[in-house]
Amino acid sequence: MIRERRITSDKSAELAQVLESLIDFSQVTQVVEVGCGRGRLAIRMAGLVGGRGHVLGLDTSKEVLGLAAREARAERVSNVTFDLGDARSLRLPDGGADLVVCSSLLCSLKEVETVVREMLRITRKGGVVAIAEPAGEQSCRDPDSRRFTYLSAKLNSAFVRGWKRRGVDQHVGLKVPEILLRLGVKDIAAEAVCQVFLMSDLRRTLEDVEGQLRTESSRLPAPTLALVGRGGMTRKEVEQHHAMARRKLADFMSSPEEIRGSGYVRVTSPLLVFAGRVPE
Ligand SMILES: C[S@@+](CC[C@H](N)C(=O)[O-])C[C@H]1O[C@@H](n2cnc3c(N)ncnc32)[C@H](O)[C@@H]1O
Repeated sequence: MIRERRITSDKSAELAQVLESLIDFSQVTQVVEVGCGRGRLAIRMAGLVGGRGHVLGLDTSKEVLGLAAREARAERVSNVTFDLGDARSLRLPDGGADLVVCSSLLCSLKEVETVVREMLRITRKGGVVAIAEPAGEQSCRDPDSRRFTYLSAKLNSAFVRGWKRRGVDQHVGLKVPEILLRLGVKDIAAEAVCQVFLMSDLRRTLEDVEGQLRTESSRLPAPTLALVGRGGMTRKEVEQHHAMARRKLADFMSSPEEIRGSGYVRVTSPLLVFAGRVPE
């Protein structure tokens, strides 16, 4: 029998569960997340450390920090703060944090080792560094449209190639263990977060399916358009992919239940999670 468990497309929730399974949060009070983005993981970690602890989320984007602070207020989480901070050169003292985390940050930077060194520097001896980074491409299959399947695969490859042209590795997750070992980190444990969105999966609510389709059909921001252009995807192909995704969303909105008969499936890029202890 299939259980009734509800599943969602919330990657941060899954990542927080993995971190909770790897790390003894009862020993953690000060947490720093570098490259925290909209703060979803930081807010969840604030729940894990509870009233006795505090989470500081750092990012270089004022815009996402504003969104993160708004989300924390909306969720009435008071033991998390967000601030400007560059992961390559953190303005924090040595050894002040029990746990330092990053997620999908190294995959947007060239200076991977510099960032890991900074993360280790601000972690106390015996504390934990946890790094969650991608290690592959998304894949998707739409049994009703070979063209959409082809364009989705091309878009993902172009994204990876576009970053590579800038010297940034979208598969950087695979390099993390060797870097951690070289820098003396001990007792490294590995897990993965990888999500499968089968549109017909009855454990997913229709709201969740709608959210996923909205994400897939949203317009690419100008910098991403330029990036995938450099990676080999023409503007015309991007437009066609977008139009097909919009049509899929419109079809869903007009008869949502029909999605339950669809074999459309999307697999996210696996996020490799490594957690290790900073030596005493
Ligand atoms: C792909 S997003 C990931 C956000 C979030 N950690 C998540 O998993 O959803 C990368 C984030 O890193 C931030 N970022 C990029 N370069 C940075 C740097 N040098 N220092 C700190 N944050 C940086 C970006 O502003 C962005 O919010």
